[in-house]
Order: sequence, then C-alpha cells, then structure tokens
Amino acid sequence: MHIIQFVETHAHLDMMKRELKEVIVDARQKGVDKIITIGVDIESCKKNISIAERFDNIYTAIGFHPHDSKKMKEEEILLLEEMVAHPKNVAIGEIGLDFYYNHSAPQVQKKAFRRQIDLANKYNLPIIIHDRDAHEDTIKILAEKARGRRVVLHCFSGDINMAKWCVEEGFYFGIGGVVTFKNAHTLSKVVQEIPLKSILLETDAPFLTPHPYRGKPNEPKYIPIIAEKIAQIKGKSVREIAQITTENAHQVFGLS
Ligand code: NI
Repeated sequence: MHIIQFVETHAHLDMMKRELKEVIVDARQKGVDKIITIGVDIESCKKNISIAERFDNIYTAIGFHPHDSKKMKEEEILLLEEMVAHPKNVAIGEIGLDFYYNHSAPQVQKKAFRRQIDLANKYNLPIIIHDRDAHEDTIKILAEKARGRRVVLHCFSGDINMAKWCVEEGFYFGIGGVVTFKNAHTLSKVVQEIPLKSILLETDAPFLTPHPYRGKPNEPKYIPIIAEKIAQIKGKSVREIAQITTENAHQVFGLS
C-alpha cells in the first residue's frame, strides 16, 4: 500500500473514456485510494451506483447538476430519494447554479437547488455545490438553507471575500486542476488564505485536466499534481497536504 494516500472527492467515473478498471488501478498506484463519483442526472447516478457496487473504495454523490435541473420533476425526486439510502452514497451533488451556460432557466435551477438541499438535510448528507457565475444567488440560498451543514464548494471560483464567508460558515473548498493553470491568480490567493482544514482535493475528471496534461482527458490519477501545487502555494509538504485533506474528506463524507 502507498504511504501517501489521497481521497479524490469529485470525479465523474461514469463519463470516463478509458476502461474503468485501468483508471482505478492507475489512480491507486498514485496513492489515490478513495474516489467519490458524482452524478448529474438519474441516468448518471444509476451508472455511478453500479460502479460503486463493483469496486471497493468508490463512493457516490447523487443529484441533478444545474445544467440538468430542467429534467428534475416529481418522479425524478422520488428516484433520487430511493438512491439516497444506498450504503455507498455519501452526498447529494453536484447541485447548484450555473448562470454561465444557463442550460436550464435560472428559476428552474434555483428551485432544483433548494429542493435538493432539503433532501440532503432530510437525510443529513453533505452537499456538493457547482457555482459558476452565480456567486450571489449561491450564497443567498446556502445562507438560507445550509447553515451549520456540511457543504463543499466544488471547483471554487469565488473571490477572497466569498472565500472568507465560506470559511466562517465552516464550508469546504474543492480544489482541482484549475489551481495549476498559469492564469489562476485569484484561486492561488484563495488557496493561500484559507486554512488547510477547509480544503478537499478533486479532479472533476474527465474535465479540467491539470497542467501539464491539458488537452488530454482528466483522470483521478492526477490528484497528486493538484496536491503538489497546493503544497507549493502553502509552503507545506505534499505529505501534509495529503494527510489533512484526507482527514477532511473522511470527516465531511463520513468515510471510514
Ligand atoms: Ni463535476
């Protein structure tokens, strides 16, 4: 077993282009021991649950991505509720708001976001948030419904002020490949400022591949590259980054 172990808190294993077994073996060889695979709609949640049933140390988050909010009707909510209780499901996500693409209308996104936070609160599960160009409304809805809850801001893209508010609320920051990009000035500053005990590692694979592999499909095996970059920004060792972010992930998602 690898001495340094990481938890990959955000991958879409159902969307991998390569043979899944190879993806998981390659990740483990890099010390990426546990992976949470994230749903975006009913179909992807079902696929992810079957993946989690096939492999050890793979967990799921279920939910409707803001892009897919328009597909979430009463029937889908019932299906989500059936999946929530699966023994390998550890969160509701990814849920939130995306006003950059607006693939679903903003009002529809907000309604689905609120509804899914209620579901998470009902089952006492953490939520994984997708927020793109929607900081104000995201904060408003979190302040209204998720205070004192376990909240992960996946692929955090807010500024320092938003980051400070999230730290005060005890929320977690999913930090991924974007931190390795040359123009990621605001994110580097955020990572510098926030405490290590608020940070989780994630790739968002197959998207957002870290430097120097941009242009290739992303995979959980690249988690150590993100840890190295965070170590560099915070002036710590990769081992320390791994230890603390792994503890954080265990705490947020109740992994053992
Ligand atoms: Ni994602």
